[in-house]
Amino acid sequence: MNYFTLDQLSEINSGHDHPAKFAVIGDPVAHSLSPQLHQPALNELKLDCRYIRVEVPEGQVNEALEKMYAAGIRGINVTVPHKLEALEACHQVDPAASSMGAVNTIVFNAAGQRTGFNTDGPGFVRAIREEFGMDLGDLRVIIIGAGGGAGRAIATQCALEGCPQLILANRTLEKLTPMREELTRLAQSEKLEGPRDRIEIHSLDDPILEEAIGASELIINTTSVGLKSSDPAPFPSHWVEPHHLVYDTIYNPSRTHLLRDAESQGARIANGLSLLLHQGTLSLEHWLNKDAPVDAMRQGLLDFLKA
Ligand code: ATR
Repeated sequence: MNYFTLDQLSEINSGHDHPAKFAVIGDPVAHSLSPQLHQPALNELKLDCRYIRVEVPEGQVNEALEKMYAAGIRGINVTVPHKLEALEACHQVDPAASSMGAVNTIVFNAAGQRTGFNTDGPGFVRAIREEFGMDLGDLRVIIIGAGGGAGRAIATQCALEGCPQLILANRTLEKLTPMREELTRLAQSEKLEGPRDRIEIHSLDDPILEEAIGASELIINTTSVGLKSSDPAPFPSHWVEPHHLVYDTIYNPSRTHLLRDAESQGARIANGLSLLLHQGTLSLEHWLNKDAPVDAMRQGLLDFLKA
């Protein structure tokens, strides 16, 4: 097994020269790519410690965090399905993570107190800068699949960045109404520039979607449609035009149906590898308080995916 269970936490360092200091929790967790990102970074920084996976059943996140701190773990990544439970298990939560309703990074202080962050949103800002050389806050954005976890994090970041247009689309429209209320509240309380109370919401079958996409500069897919190679695009991809930037948060397969069609229509495209990378670089920076070795982390990911 490439992960530890809660019962095995007392043994995480037996037979190892270097102690486990960082970990990802999830259920399932065996396929998490976080070790491929973070171990090369720890090696590059010569920190002589390990990054491990820990399988944590739902409802046991608080207990798991206590045990992991006792076992010497000092920084945590959180993956599905624990991002809300992790938020509730933190002593302090970054306000942006609260608005996103999810924590994916936990830092322990010397007394074992936990502070929660969400690096998916800020990681997306870095990803857009790297892929397209643009600031997210300057772009007119539409998010397809805004009702999911990734969609909500990115939508919140767009509001924080003050994007001049923010259109949220989702198959299930009802999920977007409370999200728009939360984002409007956030925009008002933080006195944010940008869409404020002009955040539009649409279902994926709303006839206005074609026009909404046409009016956008950045189209983001945060649905799970595309995870299977046989999946269609999540909306009619002939709506994509050459002026569009199209970001698909899916990275495996590396080119979804949407990205293939968008590229053939002359749009600039990017897949979710840069988001995976940069949510990780930001996590590491929260734990270590220093710049992440981005190239080592990117190489770790690419080596793994190539293999
Ligand atoms: P995560 O939290 O990891 O982002 P999720 O909560 O399962 O994943 O969300 C997946 C997103 O993909 C949601 O926006 C979901 O739409 P619903 O909110 O309507 O469920 C979207 N999605 C999944 N399958 C879809 C499909 N066949 N067509 C359109 N959207 C789909």
